Amino acid sequence: MAIEDIIVETPDVKTFRLIFQERKIRRHFSFKAGQFGKYSVFGEGESTFYLASSPTWEGYLECSVRRASKVAEAFHKLGVGDRIGFRGPYGNGFPLPELTGKNLILIGSGIGIVPLRSLIWNCLDFRESFGKITILYGAERVADLVYKRELREWESRRDINLIRTVDPGGEEPGWDGRVGFVPMIMREIDLLPEKSWVITCGPPVMIKFVIEGLISLGFSPERIITTLEMKIRCGLGKCGRCNIGKHYVCQDGPVFTYAQIGEFPNEF
Ligand SMILES: Cc1cc2nc3c(=O)[nH]c(=O)nc-3n(C[C@H](O)[C@H](O)[C@H](O)COP(=O)(O)OP(=O)(O)OC[C@H]3O[C@@H](n4cnc5c(N)ncnc54)[C@H](O)[C@@H]3O)c2cc1C
Ligand code: FES
Repeated sequence: MAIEDIIVETPDVKTFRLIFQERKIRRHFSFKAGQFGKYSVFGEGESTFYLASSPTWEGYLECSVRRASKVAEAFHKLGVGDRIGFRGPYGNGFPLPELTGKNLILIGSGIGIVPLRSLIWNCLDFRESFGKITILYGAERVADLVYKRELREWESRRDINLIRTVDPGGEEPGWDGRVGFVPMIMREIDLLPEKSWVITCGPPVMIKFVIEGLISLGFSPERIITTLEMKIRCGLGKCGRCNIGKHYVCQDGPVFTYAQIGEFPNEF
C-alpha cells in the first residue's frame, strides 16, 4: 500500500491514509469496524493496528499509530508516497447488526479511541438507524487527545453527546472539557442502563474500572462490549499465545461481551 496522507494527531500518534496499489483490491476491499490489520515497514518488521477509518469510506483505509514499538517508530519516519505491507482484515469486529436501533455509549481513552472512531463514523453514516449516541473520551493530557479535529466536529453535532476529559493535572489554560479519570466521569452521566449498550476500548486498567462501574450501575454483561488486545501476539491464530480455554482472542475476538468474558476459565 502507498501512504497518501499523514495527519499528526498528538506528539506520539500519527494517522496514515493508505491506498492499495492494485485497483481491484482497492475497489473490493471490505472490513468491519473493530477489525485489525498487520502492517509491515519493510526491513523493520510487522505490527498490529486497528483499521481506524470507517468501512463505509471507499478507496482507502486509515490506521493511527502510537510510537510505542520499533515498528511504530519506523512507521512514523515514513512520508507520503512511501510503501508499506498490509495483511488483513483480521478479528471479529463489532457486532453492528446487534447494535442497530440501540442507544450507544462509546467509552475510550488514549489510543483506545481508534477502533471506536471507525465504529462512530460507521454509525454516523447510518445515523437514523441508532438511538442516542454518547461518547466519553479521555486522555492523560489535552495534547494526548487523538482526532482533535473530529472531536470538535462531533461536539458541534446535535445528534451526539460528546464528553471529553483529561486526567487531573492534564488540563491546560482554555481547556473547556472535564477533568477526571474516565471511570469517574462516567458515573456523572445519565447512561440509561436498561436502554443502552456500551462499547469500550482503552488500557486494561480503564476497562476494569469502567466495567465494574457499569455493572454497579445496573448494566447487564450482555450489553457491555470490550476489546482484548493484551494477549494478542501474532494475530493470525498461529503462535498459540492468545488462547483462553478454547478461545483464540485474535480470531474469536478481539471484541467480546462481558458476558462472554465471564465464561472464560479462571486462568484469564
Ligand atoms: C488487535 C490490536 C490492535 C491494535 N491497534 C493499535 C492501533 O490502532 N494503534 C496503535 O498504536 N497500537 C495498536 N496496537 C498495539 C500495537 O500493536 C503494539 O502492541 C504496540 O505498538 C506496542 O508494541 P510492542 O513493542 O509491545 O510489540 P508488539 O508488536 O505488540 O509485540 C508484542 C510481543 O509479541 C511478540 N510478537 C510480535 N509478532 C509476533 C509474531 N508474529 N509471532 C509471535 N510473537 C510475536 C513480540 O516479540 C513482542 O514480544 C494494537 C494491538 C492489538 C493486539
Ligand atoms: S495471537 Fe498468535 S494465535 Fe492468537
